[in-house]
Amino acid sequence: MVIHTELPETPIHARFDSRLISQSLTNLIKNAVEAFESISPSPDWVPTITVQGQLEGNHARINVSDNGKGWPSENRQRLLEPYMTTREKGTGPGLAIVAKIIEQHGGIVELVDAEPDATGRVGACVTFTLPLQSPIKTSEEGGADAASAVPSQQEEPLISAAVHK
Ligand SMILES: Nc1ncnc2c1ncn2[C@@H]1O[C@H](COP(=O)(O)OP(=O)(O)OP(=O)(O)O)[C@@H](O)[C@H]1O
Ligand SMILES: [Mg+2]
Repeated sequence: MVIHTELPETPIHARFDSRLISQSLTNLIKNAVEAFESISPSPDWVPTITVQGQLEGNHARINVSDNGKGWPSENRQRLLEPYMTTREKGTGPGLAIVAKIIEQHGGIVELVDAEPDATGRVGACVTFTLPLQSPIKTSEEGGADAASAVPSQQEEPLISAAVHK
C-alpha cells in the first residue's frame, strides 16, 4: 500500500484544533484502508491513499482519496449521518464525527468520487475545507457565541499536521 502526499511548497497556515483534525484525518485514512479490504488483488492495482492540501481562495482544501471499492451507489450523502455503516462490524460514527468537527471549524465536507487510477478504478474521496481566518477572530467582533464553537484552537501550520498524521 502506498500513502502519497501532495502538498504545496509554502505551508498553509490555518487555525484549528490539532487533536480533532488529527483524529479526523486518522478516521478518513482508516476508512480508506478498509475500502481496500474487499478488493481481490491484481498485479496492476496498487492500493494508494492520496492526501492533498492546497490553498483555495480564503480556505485550505484537504482531499483524502483512495482507489478502493468506491462509495456505495446509493445514499452517499446519508453516510455523513451518525451510525450509518455498510460494514458488518462497523459502528459508523466515523464520517459523521468528521463532518461535525469540520463544520464546527467553519468548513464543509463533501463525499466525491476520486480521480480514476491508472487501471481506471474510481475510489472514494473526502474533500473538506478549513477557513484560514478562524471563526474566533470573527466572533471577537461579533459576540461570544461563535467563540465557544471551537474552544481550543491553536494556530498551527496546517500542512505539518496533515503530513505527520
Ligand atoms: N474510503 C471509503 N471508500 C468507500 N466507502 C467508504 C469509505 N469511507 C467510508 N465509506 C462508507 O461509509 C460508511 C460509513 O463510514 P464510517 O467511517 O462512518 O463508519 P464505518 O467505517 O462503517 O464504521 P467505523 O468507522 O465505526 O469502523 C462505511 O460503512 C462505508 O460504506
Ligand atoms: Mg470508519
